[in-house]
Amino acid sequence: MSRNLSMIRDVNQHINETVTIGCWLHNKRSSGKIQFLQLRDGSGFIQGVVVKSEVPPEVWDAAAKLTQESSLYVTGTVREDSRSKSGFELNVTGVEIIQIANDYPITPKEHGVDYLMDHRHLWIRSPRQRAILVIRAQIIRAVQQFFDERGFQLVDPPILTPSSCEGTTNLFHTKYFDEDAYLTQSGQLYMEAAAMALGKVYSFGPTFRAEKSKTRRHLIEFWMIEPEMAFVTHEENLEVQEQFVSHIVASVLQHCHKELEVLERDTAKLEKITAPFPRITYDEAVKFLKANGHEFEWGEDFGAPHETALAASYEKPVFITHWPTDIKAFYMKPDPSRPEVVLCADMIAPEGYGEIIGGSQRIDDPELMEKRFAEHELSREAYQWYMDLRKYGSVPHSGFGLGLERTVAWICGLEHVRETIPFPRLLYRLYP
Ligand code: 4AD
Ligand code: MG
Repeated sequence: MSRNLSMIRDVNQHINETVTIGCWLHNKRSSGKIQFLQLRDGSGFIQGVVVKSEVPPEVWDAAAKLTQESSLYVTGTVREDSRSKSGFELNVTGVEIIQIANDYPITPKEHGVDYLMDHRHLWIRSPRQRAILVIRAQIIRAVQQFFDERGFQLVDPPILTPSSCEGTTNLFHTKYFDEDAYLTQSGQLYMEAAAMALGKVYSFGPTFRAEKSKTRRHLIEFWMIEPEMAFVTHEENLEVQEQFVSHIVASVLQHCHKELEVLERDTAKLEKITAPFPRITYDEAVKFLKANGHEFEWGEDFGAPHETALAASYEKPVFITHWPTDIKAFYMKPDPSRPEVVLCADMIAPEGYGEIIGGSQRIDDPELMEKRFAEHELSREAYQWYMDLRKYGSVPHSGFGLGLERTVAWICGLEHVRETIPFPRLLYRLYP
């Protein structure tokens, strides 16, 4: 039997009409004469009102049997209702039970994080987790729209790779038949090849880092957006980044106000995220940290407390540019006027969310690249193809990588990245 189902998100197009919705019971209240069913269908939430004196006894009894997360087809008339959160109510005339769910493990009471993580496959049904995943999907839509409208081609780099991009300490090792292989840490090197073929490109895919650190910003498996642009230099690269991040935030503000409300996000802070973003050099950042009581030497990398202290001076994301060559990746182009620093930037999000973007202009000079391979003890064999890009029509080029989960955490205002991805892979957690 085919049913003509409506979605809760579309009920505003069916005011005073009768609709049928496939849904789950989220919660229920009853006064003895009226049952209030909190219904969800994934697209939204709506309250169904069952009035004992207005429905046949079997409809009343079916509604009375519903437990949390029972599945059903509900039929009713859509009423505008200014008191309800969604602005609409369903005056229920029919209930067809699909399955009664017994002892749903996540009750409206408080549960510990470990318990919720063990039940992540069910936890994502909660209004809060749903709101986060909807915002994540909107961010991905905004990313694609931004690049598609600006002449970028989507290119998919490989996931199984023979060599590293971001150092060897957190490589995820696996076997590739008789060879050693690694899950990709970043698609960048391949995106550089793609930029030489297609001009402006971006990738969106999973990346893997066997991070031994258990922090609220690190995942083992996370998703990155990596644009790469031929003929684009350091300063232009920063301009693309600030336009890009502003576009994402504006898109979420425009399309996800309900979800931001569920998360109780202070949207006034997000409204301020418009290009241009402030820029400070690494040198200035070090000076600032020292002046503010941090023990820090030039040449060290910033930790989370340093990033948080630096970001606290700004309402927008801040670029930290021109980092010491020695602590950055092998492929970054040195500043011609000061080769001890590279033409790169980290973008630090406001409100303590840390680094969301790492990017740089890339080395285009074959001789310098050869030198870097030697210094970093990288196998010439494994990177031969990457050298070719500097041999056959090398051009200035730049790119960056935006970490999706940290961006979601910041825009949603979350404590921890574990809630930003449907099934987080964390240190010591591979279930569910
Ligand atoms: O700064 P990273 O390491 O830069 C790169 O991988 C470059 N190859 C990107 C490029 O230029 N194409 O990583 C980029 C971003 C970080 O700023 C951060 O947002 C995110 O990826 N990231 C992580 N997110 C969650 N968990 C982790 N373990 C992460 N490591 C990096
Ligand atoms: Mg980085």
